[in-house]
Amino acid sequence: MKHLTLKTTNGSFEILIAESLKNIRDYLPEKRAIILTDRHVASLYRGQFPDLPVIEIESGETNKNLETVNDVYRKLIDLEADRSTFLLGIGGGIVTDVTGFIGSTFLRGIDYGFVASTVLAQVDAAIGGKNGVNYSGYKNLIGTIRQPRFVICDLEMLRTLPTEEVRSGFAEIVKTAAVRDASLFAFLEDNIEKAVSLDLKVMEKIIAECVRIKTEIVSQDEKESGQRRLLNFGHSFGHAIEKVSGLTHGESVSIGMCLSVDFSVKRNILTPESSARLKNLLTKINLPTRILFQKEAIVQAMRKDKKRENENLHFVFLHDIGDARTELISLSELKEFLDDLC
Ligand SMILES: NC(=O)c1ccc[n+]([C@@H]2O[C@H](COP(=O)([O-])OP(=O)(O)OC[C@H]3O[C@@H](n4cnc5c(N)ncnc54)[C@H](O)[C@@H]3O)[C@@H](O)[C@H]2O)c1
Ligand SMILES: [Zn+2]
Repeated sequence: MKHLTLKTTNGSFEILIAESLKNIRDYLPEKRAIILTDRHVASLYRGQFPDLPVIEIESGETNKNLETVNDVYRKLIDLEADRSTFLLGIGGGIVTDVTGFIGSTFLRGIDYGFVASTVLAQVDAAIGGKNGVNYSGYKNLIGTIRQPRFVICDLEMLRTLPTEEVRSGFAEIVKTAAVRDASLFAFLEDNIEKAVSLDLKVMEKIIAECVRIKTEIVSQDEKESGQRRLLNFGHSFGHAIEKVSGLTHGESVSIGMCLSVDFSVKRNILTPESSARLKNLLTKINLPTRILFQKEAIVQAMRKDKKRENENLHFVFLHDIGDARTELISLSELKEFLDDLC
């Protein structure tokens, strides 16, 4: 088991990699706890939950909204939750986002922790203290930044994930290595078959490295002004592709990263060899590297990017494997690049 501590402006918290849901009692405070999970996770794991009240939300992105939050507030009141109640979220990124948001707002904030049960939650969603829900068609529009008490990454739970969920999580793993850590990237290249088949030893190293990288970035930049933007690599295009194509988040980010390295090569800041390494790795994970898309729709979707600043976007370019840098570029320059590509 690997143990990391994230120190932030409002305290520190523990991340335990390769710890098990079965030992959750060791981490819960003496005081009262309530579990928050989704229906799907409950159907698979409820038998392993400790004997505590359970609130179930519906699975799926469309349910990550204020209506769900409202229902949970109501149930917490019915369960007579008070300021000393601990909220334990068990599930993927939707459960951890909703748990973090409710934990941050109910009674102006109660303690909470996570058992992250998807690859994406373990390397990304559960780490960093951002939480939130969708509103009126906009992703994560309403939320807070507040850290949980602990995050447990149970690697055994990943075995019940559908293949596409595993792949989606791997897009974020590749992203993390590509922007910050050439040796992790090389490790992925050497061990990708074992990794995608969820070999425990290999996954323990990969998840721990991704968590270390994200926590390093977050502790330098909790509110996302500089370093944290690097984690948006592939996401400016990715979010737009996800909106217009119906592909999964991971598939869209995979294509987004490929477009970003094409753009980097075009600007002569990345070698074609490094770009090919990224695309090869994504191909081995069975993630798409290109799409026949409507560029107009993508540029339109990029205009709605909430990270846009007027007509400009902080775009993440790759200068080398492990070396990403952001640059403020105009939407018209992005459109020009897409035009040239088609
Ligand atoms: N807060 C952040 O910093 C941050 C970062 C990245 C993503 N996110 C958010 O995370 C969400 C996506 O996370 P996700 O991909 O984990 O989605 P998710 O929570 O919807 O989980 C995906 C599916 O897998 C199921 N599942 C969860 N654990 C399982 C297991 N062990 N075995 C079988 N099935 C399981 C879920 O019920 C769900 O159907 C998005 O809403 C996104 O906005 C947040
Ligand atoms: Zn992402």
